[in-house]
Amino acid sequence: MSSHHAGIITISDRAASGEYEDHGGPALRADCEKRGWKVAAEAIVPDEKDRIQSAIRSFSSQGCGLILTTGGTGIAERDVTPEAIREIMRVELPGFGETMRMKSLDITPNAILSRSLAAVVDSSLVIALPGKPSGAVECLGFVAGAIDHAVKLARREPTSC
Ligand code: MTE
Repeated sequence: MSSHHAGIITISDRAASGEYEDHGGPALRADCEKRGWKVAAEAIVPDEKDRIQSAIRSFSSQGCGLILTTGGTGIAERDVTPEAIREIMRVELPGFGETMRMKSLDITPNAILSRSLAAVVDSSLVIALPGKPSGAVECLGFVAGAIDHAVKLARREPTSC
């Protein structure tokens, strides 16, 4: 397993305004560290497409091969994470979203409400995870096996296959 440089972005109006303590970012940080990945950048942004897009692009230009977002994947009026990512991505990797939803359905029927996804933006793999901290960590675990290879491809590094 490679030692990735990861960026973590919590997407939440309430966490960004300080009304609500961010638990998703720290939960993902702990999980990344357990996997031996270095968390190189962290941000909390409101549910605004331009703020989400500039955080992703900035983390990618800082060398984060893997960018994890948490929140804004559902159906609330302010949930715009998938739209923000799709506007700037080069390519979507539908298998990530499909797998996260399928595996999560064994945990909660509400998993079907998440529009979680993964995409290549600039030279990073971006994975948009649900906002619930335990859900974000669960979903990351379901797709973790493909992350090394996807990050290498996103960074245009040589791969074994
Ligand atoms: N997936 C997993 N694995 N575990 C969860 O607890 N919560 C669901 C879903 N996916 C959940 C999950 C719920 S309740 C919602 S509303 C959607 O993710 C969207 O969450 P978001 O809008 O906070 O991103």
